[in-house]
Amino acid sequence: MALTAGFVLVLSFLLFTTFSGFFQTVISYERPSVRGTIYLSLSNDQDSISPQQVHISLVGQDKMRITWITEDETPATVNYGSTQGSNQFSATGNTSSYQYLMYKSGQIHNVVIGPLQPSTVYFYRCGSDSRQEFNFKTPPPGFPIKFAVVGDLGQTEWTNSTLQHIAASNYDMLLLPGDLSYADLIQPRWDSFGRIVEPLASQRPWIVTQGNHEIEKIPVLHSHSFTSYNARWRMPFEESGSASNLYYSFEVVGVHVIMLGSYTDFESDSAQYMWLQADLAKIDRNRTP
Ligand SMILES: [Fe+2]
Repeated sequence: MALTAGFVLVLSFLLFTTFSGFFQTVISYERPSVRGTIYLSLSNDQDSISPQQVHISLVGQDKMRITWITEDETPATVNYGSTQGSNQFSATGNTSSYQYLMYKSGQIHNVVIGPLQPSTVYFYRCGSDSRQEFNFKTPPPGFPIKFAVVGDLGQTEWTNSTLQHIAASNYDMLLLPGDLSYADLIQPRWDSFGRIVEPLASQRPWIVTQGNHEIEKIPVLHSHSFTSYNARWRMPFEESGSASNLYYSFEVVGVHVIMLGSYTDFESDSAQYMWLQADLAKIDRNRTP
């Protein structure tokens, strides 16, 4: 009996010493502190027609939307090709801008290019400033495909760390389900966010939807919701039969991706609900199992 009790005591001691480190780790976990906010200004070598805040998003199976902003007017034209400096192809789109309280946005250009080949690097130049050439890689023709998924990106020193991880992941496409810039009504911070993500968002499709920080409605002063988000981050909603940039679907390789909006109506009689029912009914399980 004493032997059994002694054995139990020794076993308990061994278990305690083996796992105490684990329990201590859990008990003593401290959430990393908040890191400082960052703001990225226009660089000195850029002028009023230099493309800035360049990002791309997939349109249909084989096209890409190129979005960029300039301070002054410039043609909504993209020259592109599969070799550096190529003027092989050219496409023209449209330009818009928006007003938010005292803030007036730059010229927001959207150009859809294609058809494009899968798993191919394309080089492109935006507007009439041909000095800066960007490039992106199209998604693969079949599995495997690698998605990077990130939410609440914001613009702090943590954002830089997150972007470094994304860059190292060799991903094909990024999904961002809400809370992009954390501009929170201060519109120049949307511009800063666009500059911070440009090195990655100009190279791979960034497909986004909105979070609460994108609403930016102010009673009496600014009665519309999602003004900046909709103007700056236009997504391929029309292609999926949606009437709103706040919810849509798209297909890439063998995947049917649905991006829903949790800050717009989703009740059973809402437009989003009806659209979702129709979208689910259209899924071809042979193409996107
Ligand atoms: Fe958030």
